[in-house]
Amino acid sequence: MCGIIGYVGNGEAAEFLMQGLTCLEYRGYDSAGIAVFDGRDLRIEKAVGRLDCLKEKLQGNTPAGHIGIGHTRWATHGAPSDLNAHPHADCTNSFAVVHNGIIENYLSIKEELLAKGHHFKSETDTEVLVHLLEDVYKGNFEVAVREVLRRVEGSYAMVFISKKDPDTLICSKQDNPMVIGLGEGENFIASDIPAIITKTRRTYIINDGEMAVVKKDSVWVFNKSGEPVTKKVLEVNWDAEAAEKGGYEHFMLKEIHEQPKAVRDTLTGHIASDNSSVILNELGWTAEYVNSFAKVYIVACGTAYHAALVGKYYIERLARISVEVDIASEFRYRQPIINDNTLIIVVSQSGETIDTMAALKEAKRLGGKTLAVTNVVGSSIAREADQVIYTCAGPEIAVASTKAYTTQLIVMALLGAYMAGLRKTVAPEMMQSLLGNLKKIPEGIETALQQEKEIKEFAKKYSTKEDLFYIGRALDYYVALEGSLKLKEISYIHAEAYAAGELKHGTLALITNEVPVVALATQKSVYEKTLSNIKEVKAREAVVIGIGLQGDKELQHYADHVIFIPETEELLAPLLAVVPLQLLAYYSAVARNCDVDKPRNLAKSVTVE
Ligand code: M6R
Repeated sequence: MCGIIGYVGNGEAAEFLMQGLTCLEYRGYDSAGIAVFDGRDLRIEKAVGRLDCLKEKLQGNTPAGHIGIGHTRWATHGAPSDLNAHPHADCTNSFAVVHNGIIENYLSIKEELLAKGHHFKSETDTEVLVHLLEDVYKGNFEVAVREVLRRVEGSYAMVFISKKDPDTLICSKQDNPMVIGLGEGENFIASDIPAIITKTRRTYIINDGEMAVVKKDSVWVFNKSGEPVTKKVLEVNWDAEAAEKGGYEHFMLKEIHEQPKAVRDTLTGHIASDNSSVILNELGWTAEYVNSFAKVYIVACGTAYHAALVGKYYIERLARISVEVDIASEFRYRQPIINDNTLIIVVSQSGETIDTMAALKEAKRLGGKTLAVTNVVGSSIAREADQVIYTCAGPEIAVASTKAYTTQLIVMALLGAYMAGLRKTVAPEMMQSLLGNLKKIPEGIETALQQEKEIKEFAKKYSTKEDLFYIGRALDYYVALEGSLKLKEISYIHAEAYAAGELKHGTLALITNEVPVVALATQKSVYEKTLSNIKEVKAREAVVIGIGLQGDKELQHYADHVIFIPETEELLAPLLAVVPLQLLAYYSAVARNCDVDKPRNLAKSVTVE
């Protein structure tokens, strides 16, 4: 879970590398480094800590040169330190490498190389790559890298630079993302698109097992057997601005505010103008096909898992097909029952989460039909699944996922309604009302965002607390799970989400006047019961922050504070109710002086198991 970058061209390599690493820092931020060929030698500079530490180190001392590689690290093998930071070099400082992933057979290779007299400086698995390259190099860089790739096992995205071939970078990937940006007289390599988007929109997405030889005027891609591959240029249509903070203090706040647009973009073209049906041309399913599903699984991690829970509700309620939701890291170890009548939906913002990918591969191996819901075009999960529906959230940079969640809910609602339309399980007037209300969600989010100031005040007030509970029934419970995850991951306040009716079976013992409770009450079918649960916690002297539908006087009566969301259908309330919870988490983290966009111990894409 690191970020890698490479440059070859006429410009100053270090300048681009540092700029690209800034965009990739969300992938890991415990150390960073660059290697630039300065015309005589490979100059390697690295520093433990955030990228700023490297920037400081380079002040007045930046290596000059037109080819280089860079890395921002999230430690797996070896603690964060200057020595373990990438790039790593061989014994003679002729080659250097940056790597994202894990080399599984590094120990046996290391032992072999140690016996031959190689000197290792770090505790990383990565360093074996560059010593192995030194060992097998017989005058041809390309042939030597191919030999290294033949020997290593595991997951990787890596870029090599060689002092002996100072016009060439060689990169390859397996189970980790890699993109090549095609410029004029310069080319770029990166872990993902935001790092290169200010330079070019023309890209090659590198597939597993491919190796690319990148010079300033050419990019050659080869498959595992060394045969040239003709790559299709993927034009990126993301707005360059969208990858920047755009005046907001943090990416997370910007991304919270981008939700109306992200949701609108995700809905575009998917609902018939008379609201009678959902259009998902990318699926092209028939009634017969949907009726063949005896079972649906939705598999995901973290926030995407919470979106999956809402997805289960939608598909079961609307299409009346039984759905199971699984945490991706558990899925393949429990021998799921899958056959060709099973649909497996994987949900992943990045499309690179390794556990979700592994679940997808297992589902395919067992003969299931697979569908990915992802935000990143050309991502590994998008390419592996039989079919894909894209969320149109644009780049999500903050580690805490916000706009990815709401757009995933939109896709889940569309999918549920689409399947229901084919199976005729929802009456036409109900369908029309649901889809009409779905179209209104962007404005609903805009309204929900207007309470930012009040939410900021609550957040300030309660940010000194060390424990919080989130409670709700039905869909509110799933939103509670997402709200509590947001608060935990960025403010480090312990937060637990509970199905409101379950509290009295044990956990109520924890409720005191020191434990605020965020109570969601947007689900009309269980409203009275939720109110009873609110009274239960009030009786234990908890301060209650209620989240309810506009004008809910009763909730106002029982709760200490109320945040209203606009009136909408019960099924669609999660799309609005999550917004105040995102803001509450954000402002709590700000009040506690936490690093909102880069919470401790976490990285944006989890590409290690
Ligand atoms: O890229 P993915 O959607 O597969 O990522 C899944 C989780 O790692 C992610 O949602 C994570 O839980 C976020 N940090 C939550 O804010």
